[in-house]
Amino acid sequence: MKATATAHPNIALVKYWGKRDEALILPHQSSLSVTLAPLSVTTTVEWGIGRDEVSINGEPARGSELDRVVAMLRLVRSQPARVVSHGNFPKAAGLASSAAGFAALAVAARAAAGLPRDVRAESTLARQGSGSACRSIQGGVCIWHRGTATDGVDSYATQELKADHWPELRLLVAMVSREEKEVKSRDGMRSAVETSPYYEAWTRDAEEEVPRALAALYAKDLKAIGEIAEKNAWRMHATSLAADPPLCYLKPQTLEVIAALQGLRRDGVPAYFTLDAGPNPVVLTDAKHEAAVEAALVKLGASSVVRCVPGGDATVTFE
Ligand code: PMV
Repeated sequence: MKATATAHPNIALVKYWGKRDEALILPHQSSLSVTLAPLSVTTTVEWGIGRDEVSINGEPARGSELDRVVAMLRLVRSQPARVVSHGNFPKAAGLASSAAGFAALAVAARAAAGLPRDVRAESTLARQGSGSACRSIQGGVCIWHRGTATDGVDSYATQELKADHWPELRLLVAMVSREEKEVKSRDGMRSAVETSPYYEAWTRDAEEEVPRALAALYAKDLKAIGEIAEKNAWRMHATSLAADPPLCYLKPQTLEVIAALQGLRRDGVPAYFTLDAGPNPVVLTDAKHEAAVEAALVKLGASSVVRCVPGGDATVTFE
């Protein structure tokens, strides 16, 4: 009745930004991501205790965070559980900690309940905690298929390329701000869906970019995937900038980093950004240029740079 799972976060190169069903967490568009090692969240679930107890990074979970964890547990069993979760990176700084957290929770909750491993069932369950979590069950490159069913049965992620497909790929998280973001993804995307005049165009465009992004990753074409990632991130942010009230996740330092990447590229250093709903750019480059890109990011004022490579599948251990 007790199991532990570890999952990596993921960074979307073609992003999910908007739900067509808030309760089931069904997206308006498909999305594509790469898992990020060595970042990870490890979660232990133990069923059959007196009442639900949830601790995240040593602190008891409260409010909506607690409600979301308990709601996911109830999808597995109607019994209380103890959940203890630890991540090796800061929460809510735009670094998709909820993706790794809900992926690890989904895998551990099912394993502790004695259910066999089933990546589709795990992805579907993780999706209902945090949409992007459905892309952290498997490693490498995953696509979350938006699906069309109203009950969400066809909305889950599949692994398209394994973690070792492109070992030279590097993803550098440039920490320009450690503040928790003011508007959570959940609220930001709702406002984009409801008020942005660009929303429909954003959705159509993102859906078309998914197969192109996969082809670029398959071909290990850094320029091609970099250009797709940048364009898609700008379009997601443009959609929210056009919302009412406008929503801007970028900080001055974010723009400084983004502008400097163009200079690096002119000097022959391949470096392309993506940006989730937060101020910290994630920069795509390759092993050969990793040190040069890291040095440039530090010089631009990043307080730290987290070097990542494509990560593997979520794993389970029993005690
Ligand atoms: O899964 P959520 O609710 O944390 O939303 C994630 C949204 C983005 O990170 C901005 C994009 C994505 O596809 O991961």
